[in-house]
Amino acid sequence: MPQQTRIQDMTEPESYQEPHLDLRNDVYRRPLATALERLGIKEGWSCVDVGAGGGDVSIALAKLVGPLGRVYAVDHNPLARDAVAKAASSYSQVIAITQSGEDLALPQTVDLAFCRFLLMYVSDPLRVLKRMAQSVHPSKWVVAQEPITSAGRIGGKPFTMPNVPHPDVGAFLPELATKAGLELIDAWAEAQAGIGQGPVFDYLASLTDVDPGNDPIVLPPLVTIIARR
Ligand SMILES: C[S@@+](CC[C@H](N)C(=O)[O-])C[C@H]1O[C@@H](n2cnc3c(N)ncnc32)[C@H](O)[C@@H]1O
Repeated sequence: MPQQTRIQDMTEPESYQEPHLDLRNDVYRRPLATALERLGIKEGWSCVDVGAGGGDVSIALAKLVGPLGRVYAVDHNPLARDAVAKAASSYSQVIAITQSGEDLALPQTVDLAFCRFLLMYVSDPLRVLKRMAQSVHPSKWVVAQEPITSAGRIGGKPFTMPNVPHPDVGAFLPELATKAGLELIDAWAEAQAGIGQGPVFDYLASLTDVDPGNDPIVLPPLVTIIARR
């Protein structure tokens, strides 16, 4: 059995920083674009980005829904709200809220509830997904993107994130969606791979304590589910 490669715990640090948004956005941008395209997201939609972090997805959504739309950027860390407020200062449709996903309660129901790299960190992913399901209009959308961390490889060895409650929650997303009472419309997994210098190498070097050197890398596959209330 190959040795495991340990990834640094990426849960919220004491003083909140989201310095790697562009990299994360770059390497995992494709499945996000595919999901949003599948939904046919358009101007005027209302959305919630749960576990918004520094708000890169919230801002991407804000650009798509335009000034007549609304994006609630929800995170339980108040420092994330400050970061989003700063990053989205020119998008009045973005409202940053400090709230836990477990207690999600918005001023209105929305067209899309979204999360990425969130459920892996929460103690009860099903509870959060149920709250997301309750937050959308009937027949509207829930999209979740979560990794199967242990399916990533560096030099053929699996990744581990021992301090994260659900590092492989991506593998259970279709089941969780069903248990949350949602209709599963589509689900797939996608991972970038590489060797040597490049965005995949940079992503690992920046977010983990692992220097992949010249070892081949397969990033943890990101499972996307598109589900409807
Ligand atoms: C790894 S970051 C992901 C940020 C962003 N979604 C992205 O894909 O770039 C995880 C975020 O989830 C937030 N988070 C963790 N547990 C949460 C919870 N129970 N409720 C709300 N936010 C939570 C953290 O504060 C952090 O900002």
